[in-house]
Amino acid sequence: MSIEATPRTHALGHRMKRKEDPRFLQGKGNYVDDISLPGMLHAALVRSPYPHATIKNIDISEAMKIPGVKAVITGKDLEAAGLGWLPTFHGLDKQMVLAIGKVLFQYQEVAAVFAETRAAAADGAEAVQVDYEPLPVVADPFTAKKDEILLRPDREQKTNHIYHWEVGDRAGAERALERSAKRIRQRIWFQRCHPAPLEPCGCVAQFDTMGRLQFYVTSQAPHVYRTALTIVTGIPEDRIHVISPDIGGGFGNKVPVYSGYVCAVVGALKLGRPVKWIETRTENLTSTGFARDYHMDIELGAEADGRLTALRVSTVADHGAFDAAADPTKYPAGMFGIVTGSYDVPVAHAEVDAYFTNKAPGGIAYRCSFRVTEASYAIERAMDILADELGIDAVELRRKNFIRKDQFPYPSRLGFTYDSGDYQKTLELALQTIGYDDLLTEQREKRARGELMGIGFSTFTEVVGAGPSKHFDILGIKMFDSAEIRIHPTGSGIVRAGTKSQGQGHETTWAQIVAEELGLDPQNIMVEEGDTDTAPYGLGTYASRSTPVAGAAIATAARRVREKARKIAAHLLEVGEADVEWKDYKFQVKGVPAKSVTMKEVAFAAYTNPGPNEPGLEGTNYYDPPNMTFPNGTYIAVVDVDRETGEVKVRRFLAVDDCGTVINPMIVEGQIHGGLTEGFAIAFMQEIQYDRDGNNLNTNFTDYLLPTSLETPHWETANTVTPSPHHPLGAKAVGESPNVGSPAAFVNAVIDALSPLGVRHIDMPITRDKVWRAIQSAQSATV
Ligand code: CDP
Repeated sequence: MSIEATPRTHALGHRMKRKEDPRFLQGKGNYVDDISLPGMLHAALVRSPYPHATIKNIDISEAMKIPGVKAVITGKDLEAAGLGWLPTFHGLDKQMVLAIGKVLFQYQEVAAVFAETRAAAADGAEAVQVDYEPLPVVADPFTAKKDEILLRPDREQKTNHIYHWEVGDRAGAERALERSAKRIRQRIWFQRCHPAPLEPCGCVAQFDTMGRLQFYVTSQAPHVYRTALTIVTGIPEDRIHVISPDIGGGFGNKVPVYSGYVCAVVGALKLGRPVKWIETRTENLTSTGFARDYHMDIELGAEADGRLTALRVSTVADHGAFDAAADPTKYPAGMFGIVTGSYDVPVAHAEVDAYFTNKAPGGIAYRCSFRVTEASYAIERAMDILADELGIDAVELRRKNFIRKDQFPYPSRLGFTYDSGDYQKTLELALQTIGYDDLLTEQREKRARGELMGIGFSTFTEVVGAGPSKHFDILGIKMFDSAEIRIHPTGSGIVRAGTKSQGQGHETTWAQIVAEELGLDPQNIMVEEGDTDTAPYGLGTYASRSTPVAGAAIATAARRVREKARKIAAHLLEVGEADVEWKDYKFQVKGVPAKSVTMKEVAFAAYTNPGPNEPGLEGTNYYDPPNMTFPNGTYIAVVDVDRETGEVKVRRFLAVDDCGTVINPMIVEGQIHGGLTEGFAIAFMQEIQYDRDGNNLNTNFTDYLLPTSLETPHWETANTVTPSPHHPLGAKAVGESPNVGSPAAFVNAVIDALSPLGVRHIDMPITRDKVWRAIQSAQSATV
């Protein structure tokens, strides 16, 4: 990794070791399943074996006979209590908590069983007799489109069509495409995949002696959960305390509110005892938020010299049984408008049509800023296909069309204003680091010998940091974020934020921001998140929004503390406030560096000798970002493909990222390694597949593959720094970049390897079997 560490211990850019790691490495993490309360019951859910069926009857009598089973509730019970349906996140649809009348996807929640032990609850769930009458199944959005089988008669609109969204200039794009010297078109499917966090979802609900709900839950957005619980249950918000303890990965999967949570609350209320619900791996893979499932028809036009003329993309989205996609309200297709990528496309149009099918609902932002991954994959694949058809090197085509450094802030044709970037610089560093010229020579030699070697590029741009409140809300709540800082008399402190780390290292980086701004030791800045009683209201951690939004809130709150401290420093230095400057991490009298006080001294004075100033040292900030941030990068994959077996070996992978100012280079490196490993899995291994009858074929980790250290390639990383002009620290996000940027690089490399055979595209996951078949059919076509 070439990100340079700065030796100053306070500063940003320091490779400070993660403060949270000793806890995790010693097995001292405190996860939801570690919580055990006196008298606690366990919940298990009955799930449908059918993807689409009428529920004729539910018989709970046998279940109630099982020793330890205390109660069973069904959708009808919840409906009678006014709790039958949950609003989905953007508020545009509603979702059954437990099935009422019919089921709409396999593994849908049908009943909840409460028992003394987890085993008794599971036995009880098995003993619930549900009489189903199967209905015809809609297993893909193209069948749904025909509206021959209506899946959601509960809705006012009698169609499977959920929404049409479009942006850009439809007629202009069509005209420009018609006039283009070269025009390519490709159907690209970003398959349904799943974040599969190592810790599945779960909760513990209890009403305390005052009747206040304490709700421990695996939530990436605890405050939003508190508000959602009030909306669903009617319990006033002050009587709900949501606590998200340590979380073992989220990746967007822990943003939605799931049925098990509502059932646990209802069970705790009904039975007067705490209730724990922890889902199994199969439940996680089959019923919680999936990602992607976008069928994209992308067209690119260009002049003969490769200059882009137009882009058009038309997408069919499979949302499953409910429209539970976790997108901001005004953006049903998320940030898909980033589909023009890093390129100065003169005219563009994008549209998305979403449909209901008999599959699990979702469409969550899996390590991505709401559909950015789909958009990035589409444009980066299309650029390679275009380069191939034009006979231009894929790098040359990108260089020719990059948004130039002097064009920022750059208004894209699809509505975003890119804040900053230097794409050329990032690309050149990547080419030099990987030794592109040598790789090309090697490839030529190998091709001459009939060997299949590919070099794949992805020069992506993201849009991250939702977001400016004029555009972004969830359930009507504006997407700001918050921080509250308290400095104690002896110079240590606490920062509380509306975010919630699931492994990203906020306990370290948030402390580093405070340390940088206040000149204090980051080891002695405690970070607290995930407790709605103590943290200021915030929208949580997903879509890599933490650094762009909460990171800015923390820096701004720290600056408020510094302004207050300046007054006390003036009192201590016996000068006017205007004569005090903050320099080299302390307050100095202007022009007299020897006369200075440290923040630690000021902190003590704030409680012992504040002079005429307000005592104490605290600052709070709610930060509403003026714009999104636009991280970017150049990723290069080098692969060898075995002609006989179709096996792909990723020989090298280089990620050069630009996330603006780096807070902690070691954490950034870790984020990139993790995201690349996920991107690798998506490209080569992972798909949530359904058969024609709507059966989920990937219900556990023997069928839904996770990469181990044996398969995972070695990652090479480097970076450039183009600060965001509007972020107080110049920082952009990074967590999602590797997941967003890498799939296209992998696929482009494989297709580049196969291009001498005339192979143009293979949909992910690029399994050995698909590659072998592509080689066979290419070879038989040339015989
Ligand atoms: O929202 P989330 O925390 O998932 O994503 P992020 O904002 O990209 O941050 C992931 C981790 O990388 C956090 O610990 C950040 O503070 C750190 N980071 C950094 O050190 N420098 C950056 N420019 C961006 C993120």
